[in-house]
Amino acid sequence: MTQAYDVIILGAGGAGLMCAGLTGQSGKRVLVIDHAKKAAEKVRISGGGRCNFTNLNTSYDRFLSQNAQFSRNALAAYGPGDFIALVEKYGITYHEKTLGQLFCDGSSQQIIDMLLRECDKGDVEIRLQTEIGNVQFDAGFYSVDIENGPVTAPRLVVATGGKSIPKMGASGIGYQIANQFELAIIEPRAGLVPFTLSPEMKEKFAPLSGVAVDACVTAGGMSFREALLFTHRGLSGPAALQASSYWHEGAPIEINLAPDVNVYEVLINERAAKPKSELATQLGHFLPKRLAALFGASEDGKRRMADLSNKSIEIIAQKISRWRFTPNGTEGFRTAEVTVGGVDTAGLNPKTLEARNHPGLYFIGEVVDVTGWLGGYNFQWAWASAAAAARSF
Ligand code: FDA
Repeated sequence: MTQAYDVIILGAGGAGLMCAGLTGQSGKRVLVIDHAKKAAEKVRISGGGRCNFTNLNTSYDRFLSQNAQFSRNALAAYGPGDFIALVEKYGITYHEKTLGQLFCDGSSQQIIDMLLRECDKGDVEIRLQTEIGNVQFDAGFYSVDIENGPVTAPRLVVATGGKSIPKMGASGIGYQIANQFELAIIEPRAGLVPFTLSPEMKEKFAPLSGVAVDACVTAGGMSFREALLFTHRGLSGPAALQASSYWHEGAPIEINLAPDVNVYEVLINERAAKPKSELATQLGHFLPKRLAALFGASEDGKRRMADLSNKSIEIIAQKISRWRFTPNGTEGFRTAEVTVGGVDTAGLNPKTLEARNHPGLYFIGEVVDVTGWLGGYNFQWAWASAAAAARSF
């Protein structure tokens, strides 16, 4: 027996639930399908369990996309203030951690409960642990094969997310559906992901595992100044994660480990003032100790300031302020917070997220080639794109 709905939503993540709640409350019959055991698992683990649910500085230029302007409409029509109003309506308290990033005071589960409550209000039917089979379009209706027979609706919303963290249910199904309906895909790649190092560099920097430094990391023409963290696998921390979204395999990155210091000038002055002091000690005045020790040591041991020529100081300064190298790669989709790329926005209406060539077919959230910076931008895109689609039904 075929079951009929007004709107079928594939994916019960943040975007899918948001769209479902708004659509259900407008009186439409909505079905949400997801293969996971629980809805919105990524919301649950987000922001270290506190969900960084939006960013006060949201603007289209904080998003990567082949069409830099694409997210503008949806973000303007449903901004951080709209989501904050919803959060406040549910009495969820929150705080700004840094750089406009808003986190729950309590737990990310509060956001999930809120989204599910919104769905309840709209009598939304959510079927979890349900595999999505064949998707077809015939005579104005989309049909999806699931257990117990097909379901149909004149509107189908694909909110199945990207490829990041397959262990949590990510699959490429959204891209397959886009392909099936002749929408182009911008090659998906891992974003907001730690860099890995070559075996030699990994060995050299192993003693720094756990060291964090305020640094400026540049990749693909974009620079991010935030914390950089050395790990036993490579480089992480917000500055590295942000830069990773702009990085392409085989390209170099550049790191300034002391962005507020003119290292050359400081070392020239210190050599004159304290010629017997050691380089590592001087570097330790503006770098974490372990980092200073590594950058301050010569192949055969310690280095005294007096023994350094102007040229050596220039080389050391360059290594610290313009440390340039090519990462081995990234940790990939296994740990990436987001997928860069996805359904090409050229095929979608920016006001509604509807496919231009297939009326009634929508793509929202991370499956679309719109990727936010770290800091609540990706959820804001999930809410805004979901609201854009829901408004148009
Ligand atoms: P999402 O991936 O959330 O949902 C897709 C749903 O589709 C899933 O429930 C999945 O099970 C389902 N699905 C996929 N394939 C399917 C199939 N074949 N059949 C059936 N169902 C299928 N962002 C932010 O703004 N602030 C933050 O604090 C964080 N923190 C964070 C931490 C970590 C560890 C990660 C991995 C990611 C973040 N993010 C984030 C990013 C954010 O989680 C992400 O951008 C949104 O969850 C995307 O929402 P969507 O609903 O589009 O996809």
